[in-house]
Amino acid sequence: MTSSDDPGSGALAGLRPRLPSPLREVADERFGRRGVRLLLKRDDLIHPELVGNKWRKLAPNLAAAAGRTVLTFGGAYSNHLRATAAAGRLLGLPTVGVVRGEELAGRPLNPSLARCAADGMRLHFVERSAYRSKSDPRTLAALLRAADAVDAYVVPEGGSNSAAVRGCRALGEELAGHADVAAVACGTGGTLAGLAAGAGMRVLGIPVLRGGFLADEIRALQTGAFGGPRGDWSLDDRFHFGGYARTTPELTAFAEDFEHRHGVPVERVYVAKLLYALVALAEENAFPRGSTVTAVITGRPFPG
Ligand SMILES: Cc1ncc(COP(=O)(O)O)c(C=O)c1O
Repeated sequence: MTSSDDPGSGALAGLRPRLPSPLREVADERFGRRGVRLLLKRDDLIHPELVGNKWRKLAPNLAAAAGRTVLTFGGAYSNHLRATAAAGRLLGLPTVGVVRGEELAGRPLNPSLARCAADGMRLHFVERSAYRSKSDPRTLAALLRAADAVDAYVVPEGGSNSAAVRGCRALGEELAGHADVAAVACGTGGTLAGLAAGAGMRVLGIPVLRGGFLADEIRALQTGAFGGPRGDWSLDDRFHFGGYARTTPELTAFAEDFEHRHGVPVERVYVAKLLYALVALAEENAFPRGSTVTAVITGRPFPG
């Protein structure tokens, strides 16, 4: 690990993250009656503003930015943009958020973008087609010029670059020896890519987007971060509920019931789908009797 990959290094240590994050068993008869233990890895408690996988991914990037402006990308409700903006305020770093959707410019900001702006993030709205091709070097260079941030340290959408994936390996290392299966919700797959490299156990990913393209992207992320595929992981594509940020009355009722049973706030875009999937898999007897399953609680509801 280089010093810039060290999640506790430099100024970030002053933010006093709660690491390792708490690991708690919860009594849930949907697992108990099948002889399965359920643990919750409370990454949502790492830091009040750099929550969950945001800490794990952003910390090494903020250290690598070394005081430069940090520029990143997201949609109008991006957890990642909010976390980057909060980090900027906490560390005194300038931040720029490139937001998908030029039509949003000039309109009142939604609560998520308003929080980013209040934290000092400069918002730069771009047309959807330019946003889609932002990983093309020429488009990116034009975006940086237009955002008046040519010297910025660029963090990709969702925060999943090699430094972030290596940051998430620490999550796996904290879990090693405590469970048989670790399960995590996936967007870009960066969290799973790192978790699987560190955990030394079976890792199950629940994609919240439709598509079926994620396994290749995770292999590419692991190759970038570690030089090749790592760990024993698989994806179960049945629990996206129609796609990103889509929900159903059944999923909402499930999340409310889980909060009520266990007193844990359930983030709806990712964590609700993960927990729903684990209950469904327990009902299918997917976990052997006597096994311990850990759900990684990667975020917290907003606002909340
Ligand atoms: C709460 C939460 N959980 C899980 C994820 C998925 O992380 P990844 O993009 O690394 O798969 C995200 C991504 O933004 C998130 O906000």
